[in-house]
Amino acid sequence: MGKFITDGMVSLRPFRQEDAPRLAELANNEKIAVNLRDGFPHPYTPEDAEKFIEMALSKPDQIFAIEYQGEYVGNIGVHLKSDVYRLGAEIGYFLGEPYWGKGIMTKAVKLVCDYAFRELGIIRIDTGVFDFNPASMRVLEKCGFVQEAIFRKSVIKRGKICNEVRYAKIKE
Ligand SMILES: CC(C)(COP(=O)(O)OP(=O)(O)OC[C@H]1O[C@@H](n2cnc3c(N)ncnc32)[C@H](O)[C@@H]1OP(=O)(O)O)[C@@H](O)C(=O)NCCC(=O)NCCS
Repeated sequence: MGKFITDGMVSLRPFRQEDAPRLAELANNEKIAVNLRDGFPHPYTPEDAEKFIEMALSKPDQIFAIEYQGEYVGNIGVHLKSDVYRLGAEIGYFLGEPYWGKGIMTKAVKLVCDYAFRELGIIRIDTGVFDFNPASMRVLEKCGFVQEAIFRKSVIKRGKICNEVRYAKIKE
């Protein structure tokens, strides 16, 4: 069953098929794609959005649409690990550019972490940020993540080699 999680300002809810056109519009942005893995398409088409939503609907307790003032504004996912890493999860997120700088992702990350620790039985959440993305590092720091490592030259993005900064938050 899909969850609805809110702090009164920012909400996380399951995706709906109707989100596809706006998802495609917001996601079709090189300033977003450059910060994400190559599995995130660029250009991002309406068909990519429909496929993504179909996948998201198969994991409604792990992949959420972010809503702000009643509008769909971005995505956040908490991906459970397996084997010996199964008490951990990795998060990933993006916000449409018109909504940057309002504190929305900080709220969304806090909401997803509280939810995951409370309801998914995990004790550790981690993620990696490419070294040219200070805004995302700041979001994680504001949410209580600690920088644990720098994976030197571990990423090639748009033909350029960079470091990945690894962050984690532990259940209190
Ligand atoms: C990174 C991203 C999620 C931030 O979302 P957001 O809602 O704008 O973030 P918030 O407003 O909650 O916080 C951003 C913080 O970064 C800071 N910041 C923004 N640009 C910065 C920069 N160039 N250098 C340093 N800090 C910066 C802001 O000042 C703010 O910190 P503050 O509250 O201390 O002032 C959003 O820009 C995005 O989706 N980017 C593209 C995709 C992406 O990078 N995803 C994450 C991959 S790891």
